[in-house]
Amino acid sequence: MVDILLGLQWGDEGKGKIVDVLAPQYKVVARFQGGPNAGHTLEFEGKKHVLHQIPSGIFRPDSINIIGNGVVLDPIIFKKEIDALAPYNIDFSKTLFISKKTALIIPSHRLLDAASEKAKAEAKIGSTLKGIGPTYADKISRQGLRLGDILSPSFKDKYQKLVEAHRRMLDFYQFEYDLAEAEQEFFRALEFIKGFNLVESEYLINKNLAEPGTRVLAEGAQGSLLDVDFGSYPFVTSSNTTAAGVCSGLGVSPSKISEVYGIFKAYCTRVGSGPFPTELLDDTGERMRQEGREFGSTTGRPRRCGWVDLPTLKYSIMLNGVTQLVMMKVDVLSIFDEIKICTHYELPDGTITDELPYDMTDTPLKPVYVTLPGWKQSLDGITDFQNMPEALKAYTAYLEKALQTPVTFVSTGPDRSATLSRKPEL
Ligand code: GDP
Ligand code: IMO
Ligand code: MG
Repeated sequence: MVDILLGLQWGDEGKGKIVDVLAPQYKVVARFQGGPNAGHTLEFEGKKHVLHQIPSGIFRPDSINIIGNGVVLDPIIFKKEIDALAPYNIDFSKTLFISKKTALIIPSHRLLDAASEKAKAEAKIGSTLKGIGPTYADKISRQGLRLGDILSPSFKDKYQKLVEAHRRMLDFYQFEYDLAEAEQEFFRALEFIKGFNLVESEYLINKNLAEPGTRVLAEGAQGSLLDVDFGSYPFVTSSNTTAAGVCSGLGVSPSKISEVYGIFKAYCTRVGSGPFPTELLDDTGERMRQEGREFGSTTGRPRRCGWVDLPTLKYSIMLNGVTQLVMMKVDVLSIFDEIKICTHYELPDGTITDELPYDMTDTPLKPVYVTLPGWKQSLDGITDFQNMPEALKAYTAYLEKALQTPVTFVSTGPDRSATLSRKPEL
């Protein structure tokens, strides 16, 4: 069966950490969408590592890691990621497989991302500028390149044709650029990537699934509120970050999906532009950012911070069919006397609702809060949820009841070991 772990907010919920924690239970860990816009942080044995395209099961020697067809892959960043993994002596020939159908990010995609953001000026998306949007656009408009194409003798011709199309767009944007150096690095990276397992990953996954007892974990990137269909459009990424993306992004049938882990921070963050109803622009938000070290894993940008938002979580749980919740970074809330939970929004006409409006961007949403007491104590060393402060248990119980979904894991620190598992208590 396939289990899914995906973010319920605007990304950076802690997916990398929990995939690494769960990976020993799975034979296969697979990324199904996104690309190097993701930054998934893992910490163990005093080491910290950020992965962008490589699945977060890579440190577990018994896991097979698959970069699925739904991913957009940058070979230059791939090479850098592999180089950074050198100290770990990983045998990639046995543990890493890449779909030939992944869409290829070429250097001019990154330029197009930059040109498009520049043209948008104040209305910019706040993209990570990794070329994600232009690459998915080329895929959908059926002119993109796929990883498998690099094995074909006509690859250079196909590449030139695409670059010519990009140059015309860049001229239209009146964007100044120099491609020469990046192109050289790109072609070196392509030679490098040819040394890895480039496969029809849909067969690999389904053959594994056909073996009794084999479990696959699909690792989401970004978060449900950045989904291209359901997120706060246009301030979204260009893929389906929700559970539906797993079937198209890996080639598995919906009937194979079992558990859906929905992961969220015990508060909320967003990096980049776009609506964020519970955002705190005051000292409380700044304290959250400092305590939670809320700076982007991919771009280093400060993350916007705010209280947890139930209408958005309910929406994400509904879209994904979440069966279990994973609550992250509760330790960060230990500094606050009181903790707020947004239960509803008040619309401009006074209506109170817990549903998201069609246009989150242009509809002013005033959060309606309940306030719960904080626990104001360190959680270090607590390994059993029963020994957690009563106020934290009450906070968890409140969320479980409101969200009608059990919180089965609670994370109290960045390290692999700071993860508490608990039985559902609904
Ligand atoms: P991802 O993109 O969902 O994998 O999340 P990121 O790695 O971008 O961001 C999560 C950040 O929070 C990373 O720096 C993690 O090391 C850190 N982190 C994860 N879980 C916890 C936790 O329970 N407590 C604290 N304080 N930090 C955590
Ligand atoms: P992980 O997997 C947080 C945001 C960007 C921007 C918008 C579009 O680490 O959770 P894009 O580069 O896709 O064109 O950017 O989406 N974004 C993320 N925010 N975590 C991520 O990934 C993100 N990937 C993209 O900041 O607002
Ligand atoms: Mg991240």
